[in-house]
Amino acid sequence: MDLTRTQVGIVGAGPAGLVLGHLLHLQGIESVILEDRTRDYVEGRVRAGVLEQGTVDLLVQMGVGERLEREGLVHRGVEFRFAGRGHRIPFDELTGGRGITIYGQQEVVKDLIAARLESGAPLLFEVEDVRPDAIDSDTPVIRYRHDGIDRELRCDIVAGCDGFHGVCRPAVPDGALSFREHTYPFGWLGILAEVEPSSDELIYCHHDRGFALHSMRSPKLTRLYHQCEPDEVIDRWSDERIWEELHTRFASEGWSLKEGPIVEKGITPMRSFVTEPMQHGRLFLAGDAVHIVPATGAKGLNLAVADVRILADALVRWFSTSDDTLLQGYSEACLPRVWKAQHFAWWMTSMFHRMPEDRDGFMARLQRAQLEYVCSSRAAATSLAENYVGLTDLGDQIV
Ligand code: FAD
Ligand code: PHB
Repeated sequence: MDLTRTQVGIVGAGPAGLVLGHLLHLQGIESVILEDRTRDYVEGRVRAGVLEQGTVDLLVQMGVGERLEREGLVHRGVEFRFAGRGHRIPFDELTGGRGITIYGQQEVVKDLIAARLESGAPLLFEVEDVRPDAIDSDTPVIRYRHDGIDRELRCDIVAGCDGFHGVCRPAVPDGALSFREHTYPFGWLGILAEVEPSSDELIYCHHDRGFALHSMRSPKLTRLYHQCEPDEVIDRWSDERIWEELHTRFASEGWSLKEGPIVEKGITPMRSFVTEPMQHGRLFLAGDAVHIVPATGAKGLNLAVADVRILADALVRWFSTSDDTLLQGYSEACLPRVWKAQHFAWWMTSMFHRMPEDRDGFMARLQRAQLEYVCSSRAAATSLAENYVGLTDLGDQIV
């Protein structure tokens, strides 16, 4: 295994880095993946749960979808709950049979790591002090330390798939990238509970005390979130207090929330962030390393996969024919989808969350009006459904 020279040096073994590595491997292109955490950590990190059809189809085509097809829960609709009443949005009816699949991000990551190790292609965990260098030249290099030894990986391309707090985006010279950002005055407190889901489908809930979301990971694991302060301290939330808050927000006649032991809890900030362009010289950024969406739209992982699919195609073209048109056009190919997903995630977030500055309830009334419209107009529900299940390439064409 040559760890000094490769075609694509990939920083980060999250969904973006692992999908890219596998797509390249399938096309005979070499890569080395460098990850700063342990394998246990990345396989255990509880995050996304909603996969768009396009994401599922790609994972299946790549040969890593066997367990996903067996264990993933296909959902054909979603419930929006407000004023104590539930309203169903039937995705399949509104989008010509499409839906979403619930399958934990850590399961996707486990499947991809297993495929990577099986292929024999290099994937190093617990690397330290990763530094991309000479990205403006034709001979970029990634410096890092592994097993206490300083190393250098010379590559043709560096793929920055190292998430929002990674080192690749900051490696671009000042002024070459522009950033657009929006922060929200709230966060999410999320739990994973060992109890069967209280509903067959996801429930997005609007309540005077704030947003709540009922999701799941399996027939025995429920994932729940509720809106909290942006700087919330998790220790202030005992299990009893979390359940009480969730019961209050989800309250609906004839329905009850099932409780079980909480096996994981954490706080997630809400942020919108886009970097443009998504490339500089020989460095190409993908996934959370270049854009963050608030989790209300369930788009982050799906966008990360959509980016690397485009990047993999561009790299295959370049390595096989020296034609760099697709590579040069990488950002332009990704950004329309990124901004549409940003808009959808911002819109869903704005529709469901209690706004702290809303003193006389004006915003809350607007939210109710919007929710009533979405749940009563077929046109509005169709727009929501096609965004939620994932825009197809056709949906990206302006007519
Ligand atoms: P990451 O998953 O962040 O992976 C980056 C990797 O790079 C990590 O393994 C990290 O350890 C590694 N790394 C970082 N720095 C370095 C370094 N210096 N050197 C080497 N390695 C490094 N998205 C959805 O689509 N649907 C959902 O339902 C959804 N729900 C979510 C719920 C929550 C609570 C959260 C927090 C997120 C959710 N998301 C959802 C978003 C989704 O989890 C992310 O968008 C997704 O993880 C992005 O993948 P990525 O590979 O780009 O980045
Ligand atoms: C999840 O299951 O973790 C989940 C589902 C939908 C979202 C966000 C997170 O919008």
